[in-house]
Amino acid sequence: MGEGARGMTILLAPTPSAWLEEAVRRWPEVLLDHANCEKKAASTALALLFAYPEDRVLTLALSRLAREELRHFEQVVRAMATLGVSFARQRPGRYAHALRGALRTAEPGRKVDLLLMSALIEARSAERFALLAPRLPPPLARLYAELGVAEARHHEAYVRFAQSAAPGEWRARLTTLAAREAELVTTPDRTLRFHSGPPESAC
Ligand SMILES: [Fe+2]
Ligand SMILES: [Fe+2]
Repeated sequence: MGEGARGMTILLAPTPSAWLEEAVRRWPEVLLDHANCEKKAASTALALLFAYPEDRVLTLALSRLAREELRHFEQVVRAMATLGVSFARQRPGRYAHALRGALRTAEPGRKVDLLLMSALIEARSAERFALLAPRLPPPLARLYAELGVAEARHHEAYVRFAQSAAPGEWRARLTTLAAREAELVTTPDRTLRFHSGPPESAC
């Protein structure tokens, strides 16, 4: 089983081919958003580290994870330079914001929800890297294949953290949040982003 398929274990819907075709055609835009995703992955790990300092196992794992995401960010910035993709500001897509909107705001539920949200984002990243890698030119194909393996590993780590944070309810919450995640990546979206649904124009 490939790494992307491992990521799929918690995802309720595969990426639609309409997204993949647009992403392959407009790869520089996706690469630009991807650089931002790596930064955000580091920042989300740091935010969790600040929110739950009493959990030593989680703290150490998240610190390592945040450093790894920053290294990914550096790799993407270097790939952008190699491929002649210059930095441009982009409007944020709907995915992360909408997913966040589905989380509970009060503890103790918030912790497991945040961990499951990260697990889902990492799983979706792994799935999409595996889909994109064979379709893109060599430097990106190599990078995406490598990152797909790392994000699949992160997805598994976040699932384990969620399991130990809420052994009795993590599975039910995962089902709820995974349904929302699947809806966001399969329904027509106003903008093409790494985690978007297929763009309206391509539907
Ligand atoms: Fe990453
Ligand atoms: Fe990651």
